[in-house]
This record gives sequence, structure tokens and C-alpha cells, in this order.
Amino acid sequence: MTGSAVVIGASGGIGTALVRALVADARYPAVHALSRRGDGGVDGAIPGTIDLTDEASIAATFDRMAGDIDLLLIASGILHDGARRPERSLRELDADWMARNFAVNAIGPALAIKHVAPRLPRDRRSVVAALSARVGSISDNRIGGWYGYRASKAALNMLVRSASIEIARSRPKALVVGLHPGTVDTALSTPFQTGVPAGRLFTPERSVHALLSVIDGLDVAANGHLFAWDGREIQP
Ligand SMILES: NC(=O)c1ccc[n+]([C@@H]2O[C@H](COP(=O)([O-])OP(=O)(O)OC[C@H]3O[C@@H](n4cnc5c(N)ncnc54)[C@H](OP(=O)(O)O)[C@@H]3O)[C@@H](O)[C@H]2O)c1
Repeated sequence: MTGSAVVIGASGGIGTALVRALVADARYPAVHALSRRGDGGVDGAIPGTIDLTDEASIAATFDRMAGDIDLLLIASGILHDGARRPERSLRELDADWMARNFAVNAIGPALAIKHVAPRLPRDRRSVVAALSARVGSISDNRIGGWYGYRASKAALNMLVRSASIEIARSRPKALVVGLHPGTVDTALSTPFQTGVPAGRLFTPERSVHALLSVIDGLDVAANGHLFAWDGREIQP
């Protein structure tokens, strides 16, 4: 028996490609494609709404879904929003924008994991993967800047680790991990693509192909860790 696959951020560049790949794979009896608008867009997926900044919306969405969840992919996130940009200097720090980064990139994913954890099967492998970012690695930060985004992704990595430990107590075959998708040509990265070396700006499809291979290859030792698209672990 296999439970559903769920993609949060299904309207995004990477999220849409994830939904397409999961529907084509046909391994899961249902693929739920969740976004704030919930307008679907991929034939064969089940559209639904979710706003990660509203826990009632998260709870209601998962309450409406029947059965076990074998795969949760959290492909939502923000780096910029309208006039809001990642901070280049301490002078640009703004409490509301930092709080928004944390709400969408860290707290929302943690609340989604809270509501999905009881739905993970106890007797077989399941995977919860949150898209994080290499720039959320504290040890890898050599150029600074992007305060809110970096810090919210570092917080996400910690929340993933804590959840992985707790969930493993009741579901030893469950894996909770963070994934870095590479630099991917989406709306999120569009303003920051200058200077990305040729061949290092992935299409969403290329990134997703790599990420799903990484997920398939994970074993229990991977629980709580952060991996890049090429399968290599990223240190916190
Ligand atoms: N692209 C890259 O180069 C890159 C690199 C490293 C990490 N990542 C990470 O990969 C993930 C996906 O990024 P992407 O490039 O695919 O970005 P994207 O195309 O901008 O998609 C972002 C997604 O996040 C959703 N979202 C935003 N706020 C939300 C909220 N409050 N509740 C629910 N969903 C919300 C958006 O949904 P709406 O339609 O509802 O706005 C959209 O589906 C992000 O976590 C990002 O940090 C991307």
C-alpha cells in the first residue's frame, strides 16, 4: 500500500515541476498540489489551497485529505516580494520583512510538518523534504547579506532536525530532510541570476529530476540532514 504525495508551493517554478514528475511517476495513488490560489495546473494532480502563514488553513487542508501521506515536499518560499528585497546591509534590516521571511520560510513549513506527522505511515518508508538553500548554512556563509532569507533557512534546517528526531521515535522508517535545489530558473531567482556560471542555472525539470533521485536514495542515516541536488550533504 502507498499513501499520497503532497507538494506545498505547487504553483512555484520548482513545485510545478515536482507535481508533474510525481504525476508521471504514477507511484502515488494521489498527488496533492497545494498553493495559496489552489488553481492546480497539472492534469492528474488534485489541487488544494494552503497558506503557510495561517495554521487554520494548514490544518483544514490536511483534514480534507484522506489516508496516509507517504511523501511531503515543501517547495514554497520567499526571497523577494514586490519592493521587498533580500537585505544587502545591516542598514536595510526591517523587522516586518524579517518576520515575513521567518513566517513563510521556517514557521510555516514547521507547522505543515506538525500537521502531517500523525499521517505518516508507521510501517513503511515515508519522506518529508523541505526545500532549503545552501545560503542557509552558517558555516558556508562567507559573503554575508541576505539576512532574513539566510536566517530563516538556517532556522528551517534546525526545525527539520528537531522534527526528524521526534518523528523517528514513533515512525523509525520516516525521513525528514532539507534539500538545496541548486540555482534554478524560477521567479524566485530571476532578479539574482547575473553572475551564475554557465551550466549552473538549472531548469526546474533538471533540478527536480536530481532532487527526486536524491530522495529515492536516502537511507535512515540521512534523517535530519541537509542535502544538495547532487546528493552531497551540506553542513549546517
Ligand atoms: N530557485 C532557486 O534558485 C532556489 C535556490 C535555493 C533554494 N530555493 C528554494 O526552493 C523553494 C522553491 O522556490 P522556487 O524557486 O520554485 O520559487 P517560486 O517559483 O517563487 O515559488 C515559490 C512558491 O512558494 C509559495 N508561497 C509563497 N508564500 C506562501 C505562503 N504564505 N503559503 C504557501 N505557499 C507560499 C508560492 O505560492 P503562491 O503562488 O501562493 O505565491 C510558490 O508556489 C523555496 O523554498 C526556495 O527558497 C530556490
